[in-house]
Amino acid sequence: MAIKEVIKMGHPTLRLTAKELTQDEVNSKWMKSLLDDMRDTMNHLGGIGIAAPQINESYQVAIIHLPPESDRYEDVEESQEFVIINPKIKVLDEQTQIFWEGCLSVPGLRGKVERPAHIKIDYLDLDYKEQSIELDGFLATVFQHELDHLFGVLYVDKVIENSLMYEEEQQKFHSEDVNT
Ligand code: NI
Repeated sequence: MAIKEVIKMGHPTLRLTAKELTQDEVNSKWMKSLLDDMRDTMNHLGGIGIAAPQINESYQVAIIHLPPESDRYEDVEESQEFVIINPKIKVLDEQTQIFWEGCLSVPGLRGKVERPAHIKIDYLDLDYKEQSIELDGFLATVFQHELDHLFGVLYVDKVIENSLMYEEEQQKFHSEDVNT
């Protein structure tokens, strides 16, 4: 277990399509220690999700866990911890939603992103079994943000024009400008 350095926007690993994990890899001790490192790093930095590429491990695995209390995100409802391996994302309908997003790899900034509101994720769990989950609301946005990291995409690529700003100014001037 260890807190790892989170690589930042500009690091080439963040722009790669990460490798899918094999069953042997998922069953390995290496995987257990990778997940421990991701979890430790995410908790240390107060994140609500982390993808392996963010600690410079270019593999298709992400952890998402909305904690009961978060310094970085207000009014978030606690979720279970999700470990998502080799995901495929399907958009279920045309409806979209807008939330403020931030990223451990883009520290200090926030921006609004419009994303599909209803999605389905097919993925593998830690037993390498196929799972499927349907999501809406903030969790749907968090999943899309994290899973984008597995395919070389950052939220700043999708940010609504003129909405990218420093966290401090967002809190000072735009805190009522909530999600729509
Ligand atoms: Ni991120």
